[in-house]
Amino acid sequence: METKIAIIGAGNLGLSLVTGLVDSGKYQPADFILSRRDISKLEEYKSKGFAITKDNCEAVRMASIVIVAVLPQKMDVVLTEIAEDLTANQLIISLVSGVKVKVIQSIIGDDKPVVRAMPNTAIAIRESMTCIASSENWKSRIPEVKEMFELVGENVVINEEQMTSATALCACGIAFFLRAIRAASQGGNEIDFHANEALQMAAQTAKGAASLLIANNSHPEDEIDKVTSPKGCTIAGLNEMEHNGFSSSFIKGITVSAKQAKGLYTED
Ligand SMILES: NC(=O)c1ccc[n+]([C@@H]2O[C@H](COP(=O)([O-])OP(=O)(O)OC[C@H]3O[C@@H](n4cnc5c(N)ncnc54)[C@H](OP(=O)(O)O)[C@@H]3O)[C@@H](O)[C@H]2O)c1
Repeated sequence: METKIAIIGAGNLGLSLVTGLVDSGKYQPADFILSRRDISKLEEYKSKGFAITKDNCEAVRMASIVIVAVLPQKMDVVLTEIAEDLTANQLIISLVSGVKVKVIQSIIGDDKPVVRAMPNTAIAIRESMTCIASSENWKSRIPEVKEMFELVGENVVINEEQMTSATALCACGIAFFLRAIRAASQGGNEIDFHANEALQMAAQTAKGAASLLIANNSHPEDEIDKVTSPKGCTIAGLNEMEHNGFSSSFIKGITVSAKQAKGLYTED
């Protein structure tokens, strides 16, 4: 069977994923069937050659890989709807936060392979950090999923119990770092630069900091030590931030986010 991929719930994340996969050159728009209720929002994708539908079951029947990207609260209703059309020959990849493989299988049956993947929106530019996990019985299907997500960034295989923590650190994490960049740009604006200039300078500086760690495989403090001269302005700024709880508030934010991620599926 030709590899067709259905995206059930083609919203922010689903569309970011297909954009990244097509940009990788390995997939074409025609390889995807995008499904959501309001397909007027998919017109742009239709004109690029993606198939679109509001019929989730039709999308599932056309696909060999089914990627589910609806909000957690919609998961039960969507899985119940497509359950009859799913077969054991298909691979189901759930991007949905907080919904365990065993819960998915309690609705669709345990003969269908299910793997979970937790990317972030940088997947659209192929810079995602994607965490991948499954239950013991479907671990053998993880390599196929890894291969797909390697096209759109870095990935790591984790235990399924770690998925909510991965959601906080990597999926929500994008927003945390973006807020840090915005704060830096606001500081830059206050001391001298126009807002747009300050933002460009802050964003590139943040990119440089992350790239240093990745390129040198180093610890942040190693890189910090290189720029903090005695009585200097860098250590003065850093210590002021720490006196005001910089690291502590970042850590607390991630901890609260992880707690919240645990309850996403069960809450209305
Ligand atoms: N955004 C992220 O950074 C991120 C990262 C990792 C994981 N996730 C997970 O990915 C999932 C999607 O997040 P998102 O940010 O992409 O949310 P989103 O933009 O709201 O996308 C969800 C899509 O599901 C569609 N939908 C709702 N009910 C549906 C139904 N019955 N059948 C088919 N489609 C339906 C919605 O479109 P219609 O209303 O038109 O149907 C919407 O476009 C969530 O479970 C989230 O936890 C998100």
